[in-house]
Amino acid sequence: MPFEDYNILLPPWMDTHETHAKYNIAETCVASISLDDLRGLSEDSSSEIWSSSTKLTYGTIRGSEKLRTNLADRYSAKKPFQAHNILITPGAISANMTIFYGLIGKGDHVICHYPTYQQLYEIPKRLGAEVDYWRADEMKKWQLDIEELKGLIRPNTKMIIINNPHNPSGAVIPKATLDSLIEVAEEHDLIIMADEVYRPIFHSISPGSPDFPPSILSLGYAKTIATGSLSKAYSLAGIRVGWIASRSSEIIEACAQARDYTTISVSQLDDQIAAYALDNNCIHSLLSRNIQLAKRNLEILDSFVESHRWACEWVKPVAGTTAFVKFSNMGAPVNDVAFCGKLMEETSVMLVPGSRCFGEGKDFKGFVRFGFCCETEVLEEGLEKMRLYMKKGYRTVPLADEEGA
Ligand SMILES: Cc1ncc(COP(=O)(O)O)c(C=O)c1O
Repeated sequence: MPFEDYNILLPPWMDTHETHAKYNIAETCVASISLDDLRGLSEDSSSEIWSSSTKLTYGTIRGSEKLRTNLADRYSAKKPFQAHNILITPGAISANMTIFYGLIGKGDHVICHYPTYQQLYEIPKRLGAEVDYWRADEMKKWQLDIEELKGLIRPNTKMIIINNPHNPSGAVIPKATLDSLIEVAEEHDLIIMADEVYRPIFHSISPGSPDFPPSILSLGYAKTIATGSLSKAYSLAGIRVGWIASRSSEIIEACAQARDYTTISVSQLDDQIAAYALDNNCIHSLLSRNIQLAKRNLEILDSFVESHRWACEWVKPVAGTTAFVKFSNMGAPVNDVAFCGKLMEETSVMLVPGSRCFGEGKDFKGFVRFGFCCETEVLEEGLEKMRLYMKKGYRTVPLADEEGA
């Protein structure tokens, strides 16, 4: 199908506004860091991240042993995970793409969590699969209903795709739902693919909670795949390193074949930076910085939402870096595209309109996605500008379905 037949939603909005927004409070990465910052976070600041005398070969094709071992350790809490069951990719976006390209085609049926990152359902469609949405319900704290999933399964269903923690709502799929999901998948011999790019930013749920979601790889079913990256939770989007992990060697080999046509290897420099960040000397302080930042910033956003209850409501996020907030006027949802456009134009505050970027124009009218894990000062100043706008300009924002976008 030609590209113009597809309505790509979020990337053009981000591209148009993010380079000149003064207050980007839409970004999904935890505030990015530099190599100097990374070295400063390491307990072993004397160790080199990269030796400039190293020859710049392709490196290890599937990703360096060091990086894959560091990652395998992250999945070994319950049962050892092997480094050879991991493939390194240029970001999670490429990890997701590789999985779909390797495993999904015409004639397959796929069930995808909705709303979510558009790539997760759009690429399977482009590859010729039939896609059904498994809708997270705003009225039920963005939870997924297993009975609804059962009703979506067809004889040709091949894969169930989830995003946990969830972009845009910041909800998590709780352990009990994951257990039931595994049962259903096992019964029908389906692959579960979990985009876990926002793990482990758990700012409002503790590992001791019965709802705390383990990685999909820890639940005892082999036909599961997790993707992740250094971009969001580890503040290193600029190195473009992500991964595919599965306990099934068959799945990994199918993805490796697909990857041979698209990737060869990731940059050796990027691989080494990622390995350094995920090393035991560094990962704990990096995650501690990021979870603290997420907690602090969420409280700031919470106080904004609480003081504007007359205009907005939300299901307060539990994990990840995003929040999905619904804005209305006298009970009717506002035109979120016009609202975000006006905010950008008049205050240089950047947000993401939910109906345009997550709902194909039909769903999520009035919703706005915040990415609240930016530098705290940016969030504070951005929300201050928004406060002024809410007093003066908000009443001029048209309602959903009115003109003004
Ligand atoms: C759910 C989800 N998956 C994957 C990605 C891609 O991230 P990256 O390629 O930087 O790892 C994003 C980016 O916003 C995302 O939100």
